[in-house]
Amino acid sequence: MTLDLTGVDLLTESVSTHRLLLRPFRVDDAEAVCQACQDEDIQRWVVAVPSPYTLDDARHFVSELAWEERRTGTGLQFAVAERGSGRVAASVGLMRLRASIGAEIGYWVAPWARGHGYAAEATDALAGWAFRHGLHRVVLLIAPENTGSCRTAERAGFRREGRLREAEVARQGERRDFVLYARLATDPGLREPAGRHDDPKTGHQRHARGTETRRK
Ligand SMILES: CC(C)(COP(=O)(O)OP(=O)(O)OC[C@H]1O[C@@H](n2cnc3c(N)ncnc32)[C@H](O)[C@@H]1OP(=O)(O)O)[C@@H](O)C(=O)NCCC(=O)NCCS
Repeated sequence: MTLDLTGVDLLTESVSTHRLLLRPFRVDDAEAVCQACQDEDIQRWVVAVPSPYTLDDARHFVSELAWEERRTGTGLQFAVAERGSGRVAASVGLMRLRASIGAEIGYWVAPWARGHGYAAEATDALAGWAFRHGLHRVVLLIAPENTGSCRTAERAGFRREGRLREAEVARQGERRDFVLYARLATDPGLREPAGRHDDPKTGHQRHARGTETRRK
């Protein structure tokens, strides 16, 4: 199967899950993006995020870079907003849509929004979107030391396939390994925890299922 975007307007395409809305970035997301990207883990693991990260970088990302991939049909960047509060909790993107090894998903979650299963839920939803539009493989490339992201991948139904030696050029020009995770259209998706993990303080439900595609 190959990618079939018949009837899809990439400029407006959104995906919703039980708790999250994956929507195109807007100009007024810049401050939330800038604040999140000050986080040292995002700076460490997401080399595409400039360091140091300024409000101008965030404005450039939300109003130009994120749109460029949608305009050219090479990828889709989404702001991940909590459906309840509307707050931008994360960013998730589907890139290299036509790569034979599989389209690639990348993500970060704002520090305040971590630990609720948002990364896994958004990744599962985006993989589901890709499979519904004809892709057979979706991959994640993760540094082996990035334990949190490896757990997110597994929670989202991805399987570890192997190690890509010195495949990434990190910030100082040093080379780092990647672990390749992949999910096929035929693989099971998001894994539920054994019991539901409702957070009594925030009322957040962890790892809720259910996705649908929404077009504006
Ligand atoms: C990694 C990251 C995306 C996780 O976001 P999150 O929304 O908190 O992750 P989830 O809640 O979906 O976690 C899924 C699983 O990973 C585990 N996990 C998440 N962060 C973890 C961490 N730092 N250490 C260990 N386990 C972690 C969760 O406990 C959960 O485990 P479970 O399946 O046993 O319940 C977030 O910490 C982040 O943005 N990090 C910096 C940027 C980054 O590394 N991006 C990925 C680059 S490849």
